[in-house]
Amino acid sequence: RPVPVLAIDGPSASGKGTVAARVAETLGWHYLDSGSLYRLVALAAMRAGVAFDDEAGVAALAAGLPARFEGGRVLLGEGADRDVTDEIRSEACSVGASKVAVLPAVRAALLDRQRDYRAAPGLVAEGRDMGSVIFPDAGLKVFLTASAEARAERRHKQLIEKGLAANMENLLKDLQERDARDAARPVAPLVKLPDAALLDTTQRDVDEAVAFVLDLVGRGG
Ligand code: C5P
Repeated sequence: RPVPVLAIDGPSASGKGTVAARVAETLGWHYLDSGSLYRLVALAAMRAGVAFDDEAGVAALAAGLPARFEGGRVLLGEGADRDVTDEIRSEACSVGASKVAVLPAVRAALLDRQRDYRAAPGLVAEGRDMGSVIFPDAGLKVFLTASAEARAERRHKQLIEKGLAANMENLLKDLQERDARDAARPVAPLVKLPDAALLDTTQRDVDEAVAFVLDLVGRGG
């Protein structure tokens, strides 16, 4: 029997990261935050002075990306010596990630790395193309979304709580631009698959969303 995969896809700031991590913890399954790989590639490109549209240059960085995930931290560098957990969440890395993610050679370079996460007893994988490209045979697929306004509001609250400057109008605009780039690209666009369960969290909190997903898993899809 193949190792079970729960694929959770959806737009930026939909809460899928929080939900996926909590579901993985509850089930005792492995967890893949695929967006962090694209964020790491964007950061590596910025550091190396490689332009986001230099497909061969960025793909080479993606193929040799020296990154490790350890105890909730993201470490970069040959000796995994730089903790970039917060840096990859910056606006620059968010925008950069969505730009390098349109390049087919970059996506191809990250393919095996993502599939390697599939290990017993199971995997919760979260991103844009988990159910469509990386794990098309996943037994459970969820499309987790919320209105753009609700997502921008959540992001706004997070930034304010961290003591960072935030502007609702700009956040909403950036989010809609990223959504458009993710949905319009020819390779692995963000789509709601016909076999994915729809979970709209505009009116639901994290606990309700986690309960919804765990209930699906319990019923075997
Ligand atoms: O999920 P997160 O917001 O961290 O992803 C950052 C960016 O990486 C997304 O806007 C998207 O362009 C890209 N991405 C992707 N495919 C994935 C995960 C993320 O293209 N599976």
